[in-house]
Amino acid sequence: MISLKDISVTFNQPKKPAIQAVKNVSIEIDKGDVYGIVGYSGAGKSTLVRVINLLQRPSSGSVVVNGTELTTLSAKALREKRKTIGMIFQHFNLMDSRNVFDNVDFSLKYGGRSKQERHQKVTELLALVGLEEKAQAFPSQLSGGQKQRVAIARALANDPEILLCDEATSALDPKTTLQILALLKKLNRTLGLTIVIITHEMQVVKEICNKVAVMEDGEVIEQGSSVQIFSQPEKPLTKDFIRTATHIDQALETILGSSKFSSLAPNEWLVELSYVGDQTNEPLIAQLYSRYKVTTNILYGNVEILQEVPIGSLVVSLSGEYQQRKHALEYLKSQGVYTNILKENHAEPLNNVIKGGF
Ligand SMILES: Nc1ncnc2c1ncn2[C@@H]1O[C@H](COP(=O)(O)OP(=O)(O)OP(=O)(O)O)[C@@H](O)[C@H]1O
Ligand SMILES: [Mg+2]
Repeated sequence: MISLKDISVTFNQPKKPAIQAVKNVSIEIDKGDVYGIVGYSGAGKSTLVRVINLLQRPSSGSVVVNGTELTTLSAKALREKRKTIGMIFQHFNLMDSRNVFDNVDFSLKYGGRSKQERHQKVTELLALVGLEEKAQAFPSQLSGGQKQRVAIARALANDPEILLCDEATSALDPKTTLQILALLKKLNRTLGLTIVIITHEMQVVKEICNKVAVMEDGEVIEQGSSVQIFSQPEKPLTKDFIRTATHIDQALETILGSSKFSSLAPNEWLVELSYVGDQTNEPLIAQLYSRYKVTTNILYGNVEILQEVPIGSLVVSLSGEYQQRKHALEYLKSQGVYTNILKENHAEPLNNVIKGGF
């Protein structure tokens, strides 16, 4: 549905060094995807997503949307094509002097519909986003979540195939965020809408995205299915995002801050384990004892369900004889469990211990 190839965007500024906001990015988005683009502020996310509807022309590269190369279209053809791509923004961008109905109706003005057809369409759109009762309200009389619903209705006015969302939920509280994400998911399922969603919160990706790209300093440093990225993140930035989303960072802070774990027993390791699918941890942990006489003490556990696949994280302490602990970790690894030693007793050699990786 969307194919970006070797996209670069450079901003030239008078008397200042040029800014390379996007560097050589290639992304494929299929019909029906909910595609997340994550990264910290300034990573180039907004610039990249604006390339998709050519609000931002790339300095180089190709932009193909549903089979059409956009960069070579005439201004008129591009205007037509843009109708198939809706967009919503962090700050809603509603017209304050018009009521909800007219805000949505405005997008239909030049679509060639009669007044009556437009009335029907706006009514349908407001029902779709659950705002029938607010048709006559003005933006100042709406909550943030309601404003974003108006913005979504407006973006859908011309029956787009694609919806671009630039930080659509970052101005909303967590509960309202979930409601808006549920609405987007519904639109994706019922209308077959392809959605591209920019966010700095992995939580948003976890809720609705089937695929994700991680951006840093203008580049896409990692991309893949959400399950793959969540279960086997490779780059430090991606790991950082995920640890925040799964609350494992907070858990580790608590564990490592407690006096019990500030110094470990000589035969003990603090280890992070994560696994995908429904391997239950209990048989594995039982195996560690029966095979290697290694005792496991679970300090923290969390399961996230992504695209109906469970992804588990555990923080455990492993106690037992040194060689046996090494074997236990190798065994876990052979069972597809990601292992990472967080803390060891410094009196012990760690050279040959397997750190991380499947
Ligand atoms: N029109 C412009 N002229 C010059 N520089 C720009 C322009 N637009 C963006 N930039 C720069 O390009 C870089 C990427 O900006 P962009 O807005 O794409 O980041 P972002 O990832 O969306 O950040 P945020 O999360 O804060 O919205 C930044 O360094 C920004 O200052
Ligand atoms: Mg931005």
